[in-house]
Amino acid sequence: MKPVRKAVLPVAGLGTRVLPGTKTTPKELLNVVDRPILSYVVEEGRKAGIEHFVFVTGRGKGAIEDYFDHQIELEAQLEAKGKLDILAQLRAELPKPGEMSFVRQMAPLGLGHAVWCARDIIGDEPFAVMLPDVIIDAERSALGQLVDAYNKVGGGNLVGVEEVPEADTHKYGIVAPSKVDGRLATMSGMVEKPAKGTAPSNWSIAGRYILQPEIFGLLAEQEKGAGNEIQLTDSMAKLLHLQPFHAYIYEGVTHDCGDKIGLLRANVALALKRPDLGEAARAAISALL
Ligand code: G1P
Repeated sequence: MKPVRKAVLPVAGLGTRVLPGTKTTPKELLNVVDRPILSYVVEEGRKAGIEHFVFVTGRGKGAIEDYFDHQIELEAQLEAKGKLDILAQLRAELPKPGEMSFVRQMAPLGLGHAVWCARDIIGDEPFAVMLPDVIIDAERSALGQLVDAYNKVGGGNLVGVEEVPEADTHKYGIVAPSKVDGRLATMSGMVEKPAKGTAPSNWSIAGRYILQPEIFGLLAEQEKGAGNEIQLTDSMAKLLHLQPFHAYIYEGVTHDCGDKIGLLRANVALALKRPDLGEAARAAISALL
């Protein structure tokens, strides 16, 4: 059984739900409290043992590459001003040499197409997919929980799932669980954005995956699905009949930061939890209410 060492982060999305904030700033770099969304996601990946991050980028996303590099002038200024805490924080987040790769998705053809663009860098090994606008606030890294489950079941494929209100199932990929054993379940199928009233369950695919490289052969067929896009869920639904595939209900609170209210909620929730800011945040929010 090969370990999960690499993660694909599709960061080419336009962020239309939070425009105009994302007109010139990639949505993945919008701040939650005082760090970009992406910083939380990469931290979760590192805690899960990811050694190599593959970003699938697009036009206008160059700032992501710059975020994960030295900013020589800024660092010199911080040093000169004695702001060593923040300097150390910036440096701690920098990648080790060769820890990150960037590949371009030249047209927005869907999540399945974005993941497929990373195939040559992933090669013949299992890999994670982390949707970069989803912050999962959990004691044990959410992807780490999936890796633990992967080791427990002896490999194969996994999707992280959470329960959502029935009325929201049409917004997500939804799985059809068959045998449920605690947080783990086998599945009889999955469907991307089912029409209202047709979802096989209320277990939504929440943006963390562990996949075997055979998914690339299925994605290569480039079949279009929901929203006329090449959907990752459609290829996973085929792989499900060829290889072991589990859903895993992770422990943690999911924040969809690609959405106005989700981004606001993430800011409030994570500020309230911060030892250095929680009290002041609570006072400020209470005053507004
Ligand atoms: C994507 C996936 C979907 C998943 C969702 C989670 O959809 O296609 O299966 O449930 O992310 O956020 P999107 O939000 O890009 O439409």
